[in-house]
Amino acid sequence: MTVSKNIVWHDSKVTKEERQELMHHKSAVLWFTGLSGSGKSTISVELEKELHAQGIHTYRLDGDNVRHGLNKNLGFSPEDRTENIRRVGEVAKLMVDAGLITLTAFISPYLEDRKQVRDIMEEGEFIEVYVKASVETCEARDPKGLYKKARAGEIKEFTGIDAPYEEPVNPEIVLETGSLSVEESVAVIIDYLKAKGYLYETSRSSR
Ligand code: ADX
Repeated sequence: MTVSKNIVWHDSKVTKEERQELMHHKSAVLWFTGLSGSGKSTISVELEKELHAQGIHTYRLDGDNVRHGLNKNLGFSPEDRTENIRRVGEVAKLMVDAGLITLTAFISPYLEDRKQVRDIMEEGEFIEVYVKASVETCEARDPKGLYKKARAGEIKEFTGIDAPYEEPVNPEIVLETGSLSVEESVAVIIDYLKAKGYLYETSRSSR
């Protein structure tokens, strides 16, 4: 629902397509979803480094970072998570419009919230990357000690423990991080971007 009235869209004289042409690659969002500790942040950080080195213009949005600023007024209730994802989706859309390969790393546990983001993007602009690891695997890793706290009842509504995670139904990419290394996961995504024509022939990556 739009609350404000009397607002009229004002077009730019530079289009998304013209920005993409200038950058020599298409823009899209790589939407990483998965449990805390599944590897979303780690893989997206390494992927961004690799893409940047190949001359691709990128920007990364990460749950732990965005919740320090833009979304610092949101918690982890279902409503707040939905609003978290809605805002990030809108920001990602702006970044795609700016011509960037945008990487987002949010648990984004609800199917409907991810679908809403997919729906505001154009065809081919939303690449869902399911970073798949079982609760047991993530809990064994527990990089931030949060599963331990959740088990002890010190954190409520923790995804995978006492809050749900709804698996993607038809994600563009699935990364089983229990068996794939970070490097292998990065390679899978770069191969996908090349095979689907996101990286033009003239971009440095394909030279
Ligand atoms: S989301 O569900 O709204 O998409 P988001 O990705 O922004 O979550 O934030 C998840 C991060 O917040 C986790 O990686 C973890 O570090 C931290 N966190 C703190 N409390 C919780 C909680 N109750 N459930 C999940 N993650 C939590």
